[in-house]
Amino acid sequence: MGELKLKRDPLPAKEGPSASPMADPYRITVVCLGNICRSPIGEAVLRARLAKAGLADRVLVDSAGTGDWHLGHGADPRSVAVLDAHGYNLDHVARQITPTWLSDIDLLLAMDESNYSNLETMVAHSGLDPELRMMRSFDTDLAHLPEPHPDLDVPDPYYGGADGFIEVLHMIERAADGVVADLPGRLS
Ligand code: 4NP
Repeated sequence: MGELKLKRDPLPAKEGPSASPMADPYRITVVCLGNICRSPIGEAVLRARLAKAGLADRVLVDSAGTGDWHLGHGADPRSVAVLDAHGYNLDHVARQITPTWLSDIDLLLAMDESNYSNLETMVAHSGLDPELRMMRSFDTDLAHLPEPHPDLDVPDPYYGGADGFIEVLHMIERAADGVVADLPGRLS
């Protein structure tokens, strides 16, 4: 599978504070199923936390889904609303992760066990070695759990109400704090 050696993202890079030119950035991709609910929230929160920590010029963040149902769509309006209400920015077009991306990713953050399992298979077949973690494993209250683990899931809010999106946001905020705290040791 020679295509696995491709070094470019299949879609244009996003605009935003993390998209400025930088030498050898550390690259994080947040992954859920549809890339319209959870991982866009993860992307927006993590990018904001990185900016606050002064790391926006060293770390690139994007997001993707394992599924293709919503390719090209914007984020779910409920994700947009909860992000707006809490002061986060997001300009989003849904994408599906493919093996060709993996050579450009340092850290994959899965939202749930199913995402983790799908990514684990993709990574194993790629011959590449991005680090694969569940995003909530960086929540300091949950760091003792083995990965993957159901208690590390960010639950899929798609079929529920607005409350589920607020719960997702708060889970992701705690995890994003842990990711940022853990990053300096990973940045060379
Ligand atoms: P996400 O949520 O994985 O957090 O983006 C979902 C979005 C869409 C669907 C499932 C989950 N769907 O079945 O279309």
